[in-house]
This record gives sequence, structure tokens and C-alpha cells, in this order.
Amino acid sequence: MSVLVLGGAGYIGSHMVKTLVEAGREVVVVDALFTGHRDAVNPAAKFYQVDIRDKAALSAVFEQENIEQVVHFAAFSIVPESVANPLKYFDNNTSGMITLLEVMKAHDVKQIVFSSTAATYGNPVNIPIKETDPQNPINPYGESKLMMEKIMAWSDQADGVKWVALRYFNVAGAAEDGTIGEDHKPETHLVPIILQAGLGQRDYIEMFGDDYKTPDGFNVRDYVHVLDLADAHIRALKYLADGHDSNQFNLGSATGFSVKEMVEAAREATGVDIPAKIGPRRAGDPDILIANSDKARDVLGWAPKYDNVQDIIKTAWNWHKSHPTGYNDK
Ligand code: UFG
Repeated sequence: MSVLVLGGAGYIGSHMVKTLVEAGREVVVVDALFTGHRDAVNPAAKFYQVDIRDKAALSAVFEQENIEQVVHFAAFSIVPESVANPLKYFDNNTSGMITLLEVMKAHDVKQIVFSSTAATYGNPVNIPIKETDPQNPINPYGESKLMMEKIMAWSDQADGVKWVALRYFNVAGAAEDGTIGEDHKPETHLVPIILQAGLGQRDYIEMFGDDYKTPDGFNVRDYVHVLDLADAHIRALKYLADGHDSNQFNLGSATGFSVKEMVEAAREATGVDIPAKIGPRRAGDPDILIANSDKARDVLGWAPKYDNVQDIIKTAWNWHKSHPTGYNDK
């Protein structure tokens, strides 16, 4: 029996595939390669280049393979892009989920672990954020993911699909062996951009806004290592296999770092000069996002190994230094 990883060629998905393979699971990957990289997919996994909105092609994968559980990473995830082009997000993310659940239902596959996001909370009511706090997204990306959570909940009620939504905070870092890492073209995420400035590939990192309601004026995020995230997914798959009910978990470190603090941490972790400038705010950014992840710790037994932001940055630095232009496939 296999685990189907949708979006397994992407940054987080590829680390999940590697972790599953190393745990001895049989893995099938579906990825349209819109943003993912074929070379990021562990060679032990079976690969299908399929758009999840293509119901016939997705059904063919379910017919061909013996799929037991699904892990769903196949979504667009860039906050500012979603503000500029919301329909792209509701189409691929939200409507893609409908197609996936229809195909799962037709093939009697009833367990799904889903990449949700801190962006579903919008401007949080409490810091740190708990799973029971209100979800009021302030950008289309967060809204598309909240809709996906709700669609799964109704499918559970009607069809008994059991789901775990893992609400990620800010994911960073790379595999310890340096074989896979983060490569978006164009890159929009903070940690890779900081490191590209450290490698001289950019003149500087532009820090978006210094007038947020935070101690130093720069907005604050909670950074979690991609391998700790993968570990949480393994635990969520087991949780579902053990017959537990649908659930949602925040995945974060419970510690916040401002953009400026991240630049300083990267200077220390890498030992190189990283030029930085202050720029205007970016659309759709809340002031502070910090997770309360007690529930994942209590229920899933999750204990992140990377509890130091410099260690997270060091693994990313290892990848960027050894792959300065990424995967070189597009
Ligand atoms: N930032 C800069 N300069 C840059 C890039 C980013 O100052 O060049 C700032 C942003 O304004 C933000 C922080 O760095 O405050 C992190 O930005 P990212 O683009 O790296 O990440 P986001 O917080 O926008 O979004 C990420 C994921 C989402 C997820 C969210 C949850 O991309 O999928 O974290 O917190 F929903």
C-alpha cells in the first residue's frame, strides 16, 4: 500500500517524500511541475506529472496504484501573488481539492493529511495562536486554504473522509545531506532571499515595512524546519491510520523573529555580510504570526528537533551554497 504525495516535487513535498522513503514507505508522487522540480523527487518514489484538476488523469493514478493515504501539498502558496491574482488560487487550490476528494471518494480512499497554513487566521486575535482561535484570512491564499479545510470537513460528515489539517507557520531549512532544498523561481520567501543576498546573488535584502505593531517595527513570524514539518506529517498519517477522528494542528516553534532579527541571525549563522535595506510594506502581511503548537505536541507527540533559528538557517545555507542556482531544470 502506498502513500500518495500530491505536490511531492515542491519544497515541502520533496522533503516529505524523502522522509517517507527513508521511513520505508512506498511513495507515489503527483505533481504538475508548475513550481516543483522533477530532480527534487526522491528516485525511490514513483512519479506522475499530473495537474490535480485533471480528474481523468488523477483517477488513472488511483486506478494504477494501491493508494492507502494521501498527503496534499499541491497548491499555490505565495501570499502577494494571491492578492494580485485571487482566481488562480481559488482555481488550483480550492477547486483542486474538490477534484481530489471526488477521486478519493470514487476509489474509497478515506485518509488525507493536508497542508494548511497560519494564513487562515488572518490578523490573529491571540498570540500565540491556538487552533480554536478565529480564522479570518486577510489574503486570498489564506482564504483558499480555509475553504479547503471546510470542504474536507463537510466531506467527512457526508462520506467519512478523515483528515488532518496541519497549519504551517513559516517553513525554512533544507535536508541535512544538502541534496534537496528550497528553490522557487522567482523566489519570494524571506530565508532564501536573505541567503541569496549573502551569496552576492542580490545586492541586498529588502525588509518590507518597519512600521508594524511589533517591538522593532518589522513584522514577526514563527520559523519551523522543513524536516520537523515532515516528521509531523508522518505522525499525522499514523494518527489517521490508528482510526482517530479528523483534527487540525498548528506547526510552529512558538517563538517569533522579526524580519530584522532574521537578517541578524543569518549574518551570525553564515558569518557573511548580508546587506539589508528598509522598503515599503508588502500587501497582505499580518503584524505577527506565532504558533501555539501544544496540541501537536500533546496529541501527535511532535517535538521539533530544530528549536534554534540559526540551526534552521545553517541547513538552508548549506543547500544554497552547494546549489547556488537551485535545481537548474527551468
Ligand atoms: N519579507 C521581507 N523581504 C522579502 C521577503 C519577505 O521583508 O524579500 C518578509 C515578509 O514581509 C514577511 C516575512 O518576511 O514578514 C516572511 O515572508 P515570506 O514571504 O517568507 O513568508 P509569508 O509569511 O508571506 O508566508 C509564508 C508562506 C505561506 C504561509 C505563511 C504562514 O509562504 O504559505 O508563511 O505564516 F501561509
